[in-house]
Amino acid sequence: MKKRIAVLISGSGSNLQAVIDAIDAGMINAEIVLVISNKADAYGITRAQKAGIPTLLLQHTHSPSRTDFDLAMLDHLEQQRVDLVVLAGFMRILSAEFVRHFCGRMLNIHPSLLPKYKGLHTHQRAIEAGDAEHGCSVHFVTAQLDDGPVALQAIVPVTATDTEQLLQQKVHKREHIAYPKVIAWFCADHLRCSDNKLYLNDELLPANGFKLAFDAQN
Ligand code: GAR
Repeated sequence: MKKRIAVLISGSGSNLQAVIDAIDAGMINAEIVLVISNKADAYGITRAQKAGIPTLLLQHTHSPSRTDFDLAMLDHLEQQRVDLVVLAGFMRILSAEFVRHFCGRMLNIHPSLLPKYKGLHTHQRAIEAGDAEHGCSVHFVTAQLDDGPVALQAIVPVTATDTEQLLQQKVHKREHIAYPKVIAWFCADHLRCSDNKLYLNDELLPANGFKLAFDAQN
């Protein structure tokens, strides 16, 4: 049966677009039933509307507290009987209650090879550290920021000529391959999170997840 997905965004929504395209191409057995943005000017809202997906603008600035905001979101997600919550550039820390509610069925993508560089400015930090490799991680969400069991990491080599912007573009491109892949696993019931460990087709994944090696074509 098709899974019911909600995507939470705050910005451009290029990862949302990648998921929309992967569903259209038949790569993910799911339907996006709701896109929630906490920012009125998020271009992702336009992307969702163009694809005919219901959108909801929930501005946290209008909520008295983090808990109130999260409970309002939770209400909408429950009304839609969502199987999977996809955080796609949703730049807001979620309350422990919200995270617990969607334990094992909420994914995030982060632009670093976790556990390195949680938080912001990940590309600049990788360059400054002289890392040979950078990339992105898709992980299940736990109460800590940019934490939780990693399903997949996509590697991007760092070259001497990389600027923050260039590296960000390269990682972004990889994100658009990595995220739909993991979502497709989840929606096909191939990916399971149990006791903070991940199983892909019943095989335990390593701590840093499935490794998607660099492919210059992509
Ligand atoms: C992506 O690069 C994603 O990895 C990052 O926000 C960007 C959203 O881009 N997420 C985080 O940093 C989460 N900690 P998009 O709006 O074009 O999908």
